[in-house]
Amino acid sequence: MYINIQKASQISDTLPHIILVESAHDIPEERLHKVELDFIKNDQSENKQFTFNRFDYQVFVCIVNKQGAEHIRKEAFRKQGNSMLGLLAEYGIKELLIEDYSKDNFGLFLAEGIALGAYKFNKYKTVEKKKKGISTLFVYNKAISERAIELANISIEATYWSRNLLNEPQSVLNAQTISEEFIKMGESTGIKVEVFNKRKIESLKMGGLLAVNLGSPIPPTFTIMEWKPENAKNKQPYIFVGKGVVFDTGGVNIKTGSFMTNMQMDMGGAAAASTAIYAIAKAKLPVYVIAIIPATDNRPGQNAYTPGDIITMHNGKTVEVLNTDAEGRMILGDALSYAQNYNPKIVIDLATLTGAAARAIGKYGIVAMRNEDADIEDLNQASLNVFERLVEFPMWEEYEELIKTDVADMKNIGGDEGGAITAGKFLQNFVNYPWIHLDIAGPAMLSSADSYRTKGGSGVGTRLLFDFIINIANK
Ligand code: BES
Ligand code: MN
Ligand code: ZN
Repeated sequence: MYINIQKASQISDTLPHIILVESAHDIPEERLHKVELDFIKNDQSENKQFTFNRFDYQVFVCIVNKQGAEHIRKEAFRKQGNSMLGLLAEYGIKELLIEDYSKDNFGLFLAEGIALGAYKFNKYKTVEKKKKGISTLFVYNKAISERAIELANISIEATYWSRNLLNEPQSVLNAQTISEEFIKMGESTGIKVEVFNKRKIESLKMGGLLAVNLGSPIPPTFTIMEWKPENAKNKQPYIFVGKGVVFDTGGVNIKTGSFMTNMQMDMGGAAAASTAIYAIAKAKLPVYVIAIIPATDNRPGQNAYTPGDIITMHNGKTVEVLNTDAEGRMILGDALSYAQNYNPKIVIDLATLTGAAARAIGKYGIVAMRNEDADIEDLNQASLNVFERLVEFPMWEEYEELIKTDVADMKNIGGDEGGAITAGKFLQNFVNYPWIHLDIAGPAMLSSADSYRTKGGSGVGTRLLFDFIINIANK
């Protein structure tokens, strides 16, 4: 069901098309009838669209005149694209031409908004007919390169894959089967994928991942995906670490009421990290990148870990468990420690880590933290480009006090306050390199669509990391 964007070499009067402009004055006069143009010019409202019927197709006019910074304007194009979907479905349109007359050639963003907004997770629907929607978008704009279109297609496909992983229930997507997805990502791209099984994880003394997994009949996995092209610009890898909790019941500190709903999305970090490196490899970007993904479910049962347990982590540090629901930091601690083996240029971890992050800023952004060695400027620029905005939280040393304990090096929860930060502070114990931590708990799973970010798994992080590496490749 992927939507394919293609470059059009000419305009067409047989295909349904969108005339895309930022002001009515930019519409080429010969593309419309005079009465139509006059009608449009008399309408003074913002970001509007018009439909004109020809004999056997439609002509849509989109005027995107949102003012402001570049990233705000780009986003307006994506949103306008998404808002076309209703009309496209109404007319049963499968192929559409976008005639891009926008000033800064933002037509590709409109296409992106259509493509991302058209996503559906309907593989389990049997009754409701799966209607075929839009399948091909042609963009007519001489200034947009074939490569830009190729990158957009890859980014969209990777985001779809990420959303599929997020939406898949844990009865299908468990720690084993998610690792098989990672292997699949490697097969078509040349990423080297290595999956450690439980015995290997034991031999590496990954105490955090093993502790969280104790309650599960399904063993943990620890996957390393390595994209190391011969023409790589960098010797030290960029590393993405993704939280891969395939379902978070809370463990013996079980989640109550609706807090457990949708917790199959607790592998959102893993979905982002893996699909981003998939996109990077598919685009053959000359950048050395690694993704590291610890995966397990978190449930009571068997010999589940409990409050009071003291766990020795991969780097030898000890953790007093006070709440089994703070499991993400347990498995990430091991993974971040393991990343030290690679002498990374920077490590970016992504995790649906804390309800506190979601409460603080909601679904409209990502909570970011970093240590002093890390430069966040490039990631920040990427976050604006793809409109997955970062909000930086402080990492003041005072917060460390909140995770101190008498019986171990640290405890796995802080107090009632600053929960996203104490989680970040916990993770900082496992890094010795430039490091950025992204808490995506707010935007990872949406209870209702936010424009082209469809309901359910949003795929947040995939486009962000892909754009980040694209820009490094272009430097
Ligand atoms: N996976 C959750 C965080 C979460 C909550 C993600 C809501 C998305 C939406 C995480 O493992 C968790 O349970 N965190 C606890 C930490 C607490 C026990 C210190 C939380 O945020 O309540
Ligand atoms: Mn939890
Ligand atoms: Zn969790």
